[in-house]
Amino acid sequence: MRTAEPAGTALFLKRWLRRPLSMGAVVPSGRLLAEALARTAQAAIEGREGHVIELGAGTGEVTKALLAAGIPGERLALVERDPELAAFLRRHFRGLKIIEGDAARLPRLLAANGIDKVAAVVSGLPLLSLPTEVVNGIVNGVFDTLPRGAALVQFTYGPSPPVPRRLRSSLRLVGARGRRIWRNVPPAVVWTFRKPAA
Ligand SMILES: C[S@@+](CC[C@H](N)C(=O)[O-])C[C@H]1O[C@@H](n2cnc3c(N)ncnc32)[C@H](O)[C@@H]1O
Repeated sequence: MRTAEPAGTALFLKRWLRRPLSMGAVVPSGRLLAEALARTAQAAIEGREGHVIELGAGTGEVTKALLAAGIPGERLALVERDPELAAFLRRHFRGLKIIEGDAARLPRLLAANGIDKVAAVVSGLPLLSLPTEVVNGIVNGVFDTLPRGAALVQFTYGPSPPVPRRLRSSLRLVGARGRRIWRNVPPAVVWTFRKPAA
């Protein structure tokens, strides 16, 4: 289940050189950020059935933290668009559902993989560095798959919420901000977004 760290970091850097904007960061998420995302996801799925979907799993740093936080592998599905990274995930996380594809097509990807119930979505996507229309497509797709009250967990390095205001209001999302993790490099904040139960 565990990745070989140096191989993962080198592959991450190689893919960053190819697609810097969609990778967002030069190195995988730090342990403290990965753990904060996993803790938030674990709390968000309490009492909920269905899969936890990780978007942009990269080399699996957040995946490892999700497993370590007690989310069972059979409830996890990873979505990764980069074919080399998806192949890496398949080699290192045997037994997990690895979906190679674009997060902007989430409802179709999940349907094609027999996933019909989602408890939470954890995103490692660099939303701030993606074009607005791409972010709109991804976030709309996420909330098409999540039941009301279920959470999108998303980090940001920036001062503002990682889901832009216009999109939050059009989807009527409520955001909750976690504490800034100062010891992460760079310091990061984990947000959760939900459509409140009607
Ligand atoms: C900042 S990296 C995060 C990787 C890992 N979750 C971590 O925290 O170390 C972003 C990842 O999202 C993937 N990605 C970017 N756009 C994507 C999209 N539209 N659909 C699926 N994956 C995407 C990239 O290939 C990359 O692996």
